[in-house]
Order: sequence, then C-alpha cells, then structure tokens
Amino acid sequence: MKNKAQLLIVNARLATLGGFSARPQRGSDFGRLGLVDNGAVAVGAGQILAAGPLEKVRAEADVSAATIIDAGGRLVTPGLIDPHTHVVHAGSREREYELRLSGTPYIEILKAGGGILNSVAAARAASLAQLVAQAKKSLRRMLAFGVTTVEAKSGYGLDLATEIKMLQAVDVLNQVQDVTLVPTFLGAHAIPREYSENSDAFVRVVVEEMLPAVKDMAVFCDVFCEDHVFTVAQSRTILQAAKALGMELKIHADELAPTGGAQLAAELGAVSADHLLHTDTEGIKALAASSTIAVLLPGTSFNLMTGRYAPAREMVEAGVAIALSTDYNPGSCPTENLQLIMTLGCLKLGLTPAQVLAAVTINAAHALKMGDRIGSIEAGKQADLVIFDADNEAYLPYHFGVNHTWMVIKSGRIVYSNCEEDYCCEN
Ligand code: NIG
Ligand code: FE
Repeated sequence: MKNKAQLLIVNARLATLGGFSARPQRGSDFGRLGLVDNGAVAVGAGQILAAGPLEKVRAEADVSAATIIDAGGRLVTPGLIDPHTHVVHAGSREREYELRLSGTPYIEILKAGGGILNSVAAARAASLAQLVAQAKKSLRRMLAFGVTTVEAKSGYGLDLATEIKMLQAVDVLNQVQDVTLVPTFLGAHAIPREYSENSDAFVRVVVEEMLPAVKDMAVFCDVFCEDHVFTVAQSRTILQAAKALGMELKIHADELAPTGGAQLAAELGAVSADHLLHTDTEGIKALAASSTIAVLLPGTSFNLMTGRYAPAREMVEAGVAIALSTDYNPGSCPTENLQLIMTLGCLKLGLTPAQVLAAVTINAAHALKMGDRIGSIEAGKQADLVIFDADNEAYLPYHFGVNHTWMVIKSGRIVYSNCEEDYCCEN
C-alpha cells in the first residue's frame, strides 16, 4: 500500500543532494546536487515519501488527496542547515564594531576584558525568558532565509548556572518555534574575569563541575582553542573529558592564529573543526585523512576584516569535507543570513555555487551528525524543504544580499511563505 501524501510539489528544479546520507561529499563528489528538472516531491506525516520525476513520485506515493504546490520551475532544495551559531545571547556589541572600524583588533578587545566577556556579563544578567525572546527573533529571520536546522552553542555564561540557563533556552526554543536547534556546550569559550590569572583552574571547573552537569543537555562539546584563549593542551583535556562522558566534539580552531587545532580535531575524532583560517598543509592533511568536517565561516573573516579566509580550495583538493555556516554571534559575525554566507563561499573561498549549496545542506547535516535524517531530498528523510524564487542554484549566491526564499516547509508543514497563497497552492 502506498503512503498517503499531504503535499505534492510539482514543476520543480529539484536539487536532491541524494546519495550521501552515510558520508559527506568530498573531493570530486563535492557539489553533486542530484538535479532533477521538472521534478516532484511527495510529503506525508512529516516525511519525504518520494522525490524525482513526477511519474515516479505518483507511482511511489498516493497523491490523490495531496495539496499541490506548483513551484513554477523554481529551485527546490533541502532545508538549509547552519551548523555553527551562537544564536542564544543577550544584547549586541555595536560599540565594539566602531572600535574595530577605527583599528582595534578583535582579540585586543577580548584581552582588554571586552568582546565575548561583555556578552558574558549580559547573559549572566539576562533572564531565561529574555534569552529565549532574543533568539526567537533571530530564528524567525533564519527560517525566512530557508534555514530549518541550527546548531546553538552555550558559552556566554562561563559559570555553571548561566551555561545551564543558555542550554535551557535552547530546549525551550525547540518547543516554541519551528527551527530545530542542536545544543552544544561551549563552557570553554573564554577565560572568565574571575580566572584571568589562572586559566588551568578554570579548565578544572569546566571538566569537574560543568561537564558532568551539562552532559545530557548538549549533543556536542566545543572549545575555543586559540592564542590567548585555550591552548591545545587545555583544549585536549576538556574535549577528552567530554568524550569520556559520551559527548560528540567540535572545536573552534586556527581562527586568529595557527595553533594546531585542526590536528587536534582529527586526533580526537571530532565531528567538526571550525573556522580554520590559519590551518596549514599539515592540518589540511590531518583533516583529509579523518572523518572531521571543516566548517568554514567566511562571514567572520569578512566582518573582522582580517583579509584572510580559510584555504578552502586546497582543502577541497586534498579531500577535506567542507560545510559552511554563519557563526551568527554578536561579536565576530552578527548576521543570520546563510544565503549571504553562500555568496562569500563563492567570492572569498573560491567554491562553486553547487559546492556552497552542498556545504549548507548535506555536508552541514553531517557536521551535526544528522546526515541520515536531514540534508537531502530522499524518501524517508524529514520533509524540510525550501522553494527559492530562483531558476537555478547559481542565482542564489550571484544575486547577493537579499532573500530568495519563496516557501519553507518544515517537517511537512508550510512554515514560511513569500508568495500569494492562491497562486502557489491549489487543491
Ligand atoms: O566563533 N571565536 C569565538 N567565538 C565566536 C565569537 C563570539 C563572540 O565574539 O561573541 C566565533 O567567532
Ligand atoms: Fe563560533
């Protein structure tokens, strides 16, 4: 018996990204979109029932009672995935933006007790409801850009109570809005003022007090491994302790200076190593030989005006799997616009439009260990889909700085639309 479809999308230029649920795209596979022109997708009970040419879809799913959405030849992709964000935070830091514009580097602001530490003071002072309300607004924006799954880090607490409050905010947000959030514990995001003279003591607090308390509240543990923040040795201590508690690993690596963070990620079997602006040939080799995904964040280079971007082309050639993300946060990258990051992926990282689309869908799903559930348009996957007001995938990064979303479907429900209802939907 065929499953009953509630929705049937027809007349679509489908970018299925199919065939890579078990492993990310890398090397010559990177950018394989699995295109179907004049394609269709049947959706029922929150899942994709069938996708491909209309006749195949009709043969595989019962579409007799489905609401038909005529995509009018538009591009239909998996819901976009943003695998590295600090979406939960309090307030904003535009005063520092002005400082940076007049020449003060980001790391100097942090060393002087500002930067992340300003956001720490704001998060400690904020109520759970305030954290939720601010992030909810950003998530609404992200959804409008076609983003249906987002990783969300703690890390503006740096004390147990506030770290827990941030992870609780992620939990609440998963219940009150449509974007799926994947929680990451980032207790080692900066050295708090209380421990400025003794970072090793703070590492002990993270390992002995925080990790055991939060291990069931977060999927991932992350560390900001950087000069003047956490050393490779301190990062290893924290990440090994997290691993022993059953957590998956991520790492902010080689963002502002080369530290060997990429090698550490590969050594520990981290799911992703993120930033990687300063990663050298040895680091690239280590990533290529591992299952660790490089999550590149070109919006951060752009906004920090470092003039330096991750060596993405070298990584692709070496066979490193690449995902792209906003890094949305109040300091180094205050934007929710993943479509703009796709443009930077082309213009600043030298990736092709097809590669940047793979980097924010199937490879981003793998960067969250969710490649078996989301990231492609294949029968059995969650029905997270975007219809873009674009004829093809190159148009998205090419026409930049605006929002191309026409409709977003999350778990089979239309959750955002930018079109006349009676024009796109007919029974
Ligand atoms: O990924 N590098 C560390 N963390 C963030 C910045 C956070 C902030 O400035 O508030 C990042 O760039
Ligand atoms: Fe970050």
